[in-house]
Amino acid sequence: MANETGLETLGPKDTTLLGEYSDVHMNVFGTPLRVMDHAQGARIWDVDGNEYLDFLGGIAVNSLGYAHPAWTKALNEQAAKVAHTSNYFATVPQITLAGKLIEKAGAPEGSLVYFGNSGAEANEAAMKLAKLHGRTMDNATGKPARILALTHGFHGRTLGALSITWKPVIREPFEPLLPATEFVTSGDVESLRAAFAASDERGPVAAVIMELIQGEAGVLPVGADFVKEARALCDEHGSLLIIDEVQTGVGRTGAWFAFQRDDLSGGVTPDAITFAKGVAGGFPMGGLIAFGKRNASLFTPGSHGSTFAGNPLGCACGVATIDTIESDHLIENAEERGKQLRGALDSCGNPLITGTRGRGLLNAALLAHPCAHAAANWAMEHGLIVNPVAPGALRMAPPLIISADDVDKAVEVLSAIPDDLPDD
Ligand SMILES: Cc1ncc(COP(=O)(O)O)c(C=O)c1O
Repeated sequence: MANETGLETLGPKDTTLLGEYSDVHMNVFGTPLRVMDHAQGARIWDVDGNEYLDFLGGIAVNSLGYAHPAWTKALNEQAAKVAHTSNYFATVPQITLAGKLIEKAGAPEGSLVYFGNSGAEANEAAMKLAKLHGRTMDNATGKPARILALTHGFHGRTLGALSITWKPVIREPFEPLLPATEFVTSGDVESLRAAFAASDERGPVAAVIMELIQGEAGVLPVGADFVKEARALCDEHGSLLIIDEVQTGVGRTGAWFAFQRDDLSGGVTPDAITFAKGVAGGFPMGGLIAFGKRNASLFTPGSHGSTFAGNPLGCACGVATIDTIESDHLIENAEERGKQLRGALDSCGNPLITGTRGRGLLNAALLAHPCAHAAANWAMEHGLIVNPVAPGALRMAPPLIISADDVDKAVEVLSAIPDDLPDD
């Protein structure tokens, strides 16, 4: 079966199974690219036996790569012990993981964790925290306190998270969404100041929520000066600064969390961060750290919850992920391999690749013309998985264990992508 670039074919098993997939799944993801069978390290094989070097990592999820021995051991041992309890009970991995996350975030005394199951749920929790905070603010307007988010930001697809997710094509069909949510222009301090200045008419600002690198928008840093201004305005107005670290967190950008990189955050400390994706290395898991005793005590019994929140399997995988990142120096690896990748692509000589963007192992190759889908298809046909995150950008988020050799191999494929592919 030829794909739209006219390149290559899908194997026979892939083709049959993808037909069967479409017969039984709602079409929210489009037709998947391949049916995957098994994986190891940074490599994955489809049902026809084709091998791929995975530079997407389940979209920044598979921190340790596939089937890492420490991760599979933790998962198997926990599954044999206790897989689920409900939140009427606690488990040891849950307590351990929360402590490790607080420590790695360098969060101040009194900081506390809430666990959920995904990035969207983590941001739902953060928005509820912001709403509770908003109720404590001076407010003569009689209007609810507002949550400000950034243009081009992505926070998830549940109705609350979607209210603060920018992309009109995914948000607008579900409007009206949450009231008292507003967008300010990413990177534009005047837009941010204007939103705060309107507090006397429109209601106070309960929180500003933002990513430091807008991953879904094409790996776009929002700018340290902008973040510093957001911190200053939040301090002045008593608002919370919430950083969405769902994509950037847990070592991805060459720091435990992106806010710990001064070149992304300007050195500010947030009031809360959300995390998910890479935290449990492939097991569904997300959550929130509220910084400091005051913010951490906004939630009280009954404020929030979820049946699977803090699931012991996810927490055991999280502990194994964090411990391995630490013992195997994977944050340093993310920083070094990221530099290697950007450096090699910047000088690869392919006229299609005009530059790179990113930190650590969250990167984009920028394209001379908007042919990202065809370029990603071409790379896949040549054994490399990258993601056409925007028409002019290929996103790369390989596992943090990626080797220098594998970075070279990826660059070799990307360097050879023809520059006359059709535009998206
Ligand atoms: C920054 C950010 N926040 C939130 C989400 C939503 O996470 P999930 O898909 O786990 O709900 C994503 C997913 O891509 C994300 O990149």
